[in-house]
Amino acid sequence: MSANKVVFEVYRYNPESDQEPHYDEFDVDLNDCGPMVLDGLLKIKNEQDGGLTLRRSCREGVCGSCAMNIGGTNTLACTQDISSVAKNGRLKITPLPHQEVVKDLVPDLTHFYAQYESIEPWLKSESPAAEGRERLQSKQDREALDGHYECIMCACCSTSCPSYWWNSDRFMGPAVLLAAHRWIVDSRDESEGERLDQLEDPFRLYRCHTIMNCTSACPKGLNPAKAIADIKKRLALRKL
Ligand code: SF4
Ligand code: SF4
Ligand code: FES
Repeated sequence: MSANKVVFEVYRYNPESDQEPHYDEFDVDLNDCGPMVLDGLLKIKNEQDGGLTLRRSCREGVCGSCAMNIGGTNTLACTQDISSVAKNGRLKITPLPHQEVVKDLVPDLTHFYAQYESIEPWLKSESPAAEGRERLQSKQDREALDGHYECIMCACCSTSCPSYWWNSDRFMGPAVLLAAHRWIVDSRDESEGERLDQLEDPFRLYRCHTIMNCTSACPKGLNPAKAIADIKKRLALRKL
């Protein structure tokens, strides 16, 4: 079978040896490669350049670690097929935008995770659970968590948000705000007021200007912009 070649144009940067980032080009024959971008990158790593550095774990779209910018869009390398995103036989791949780069396609997400920790993403309740029982929810209360629990903290949304690019030192960004909303709407959690107090800040929450890039970027089809709007609404209502 004749080769079905795509040129992968891959961002490279090793802070220990490179003055500046550059791109390396690798030919990948789609007839001899799995269909996804992650398959192509691992083929390059295995056969052409073992130094190529990227994160991946599950290759099923559930761990969030292979998030990167592929053909101009933040998404997961393991669930993005090569043929629908390559243009004119070429595919450009960079790390998630506007983050420090650890090496090649690996962004430094230390600050992102610290922001996640700051919203205390765990159940907070003074009331003890019934002896020997889990905390029960009605079917309706459980459904309020739909659109939240599926988040894999891949950071595709936050790193596609212009407000986050310029203000990530103080703006929480859509991924972390969606996570905060997940606990605000959880019927078992008793800290809604405290959680809203923590977010009521010109930067932490209100740097969101409803640009909606976050919702377009989410590879799991979630809607962080809607969750952010609901947090703003709850804050407005408690002032009435
Ligand atoms: S809706 Fe808000 S959080 Fe989402 S991309 Fe726009 S400014 Fe960022
Ligand atoms: S909301 Fe979507 S894009 Fe954002 S971190 Fe969660 S899964 Fe990733
Ligand atoms: S490797 Fe886990 S989401 Fe892609």
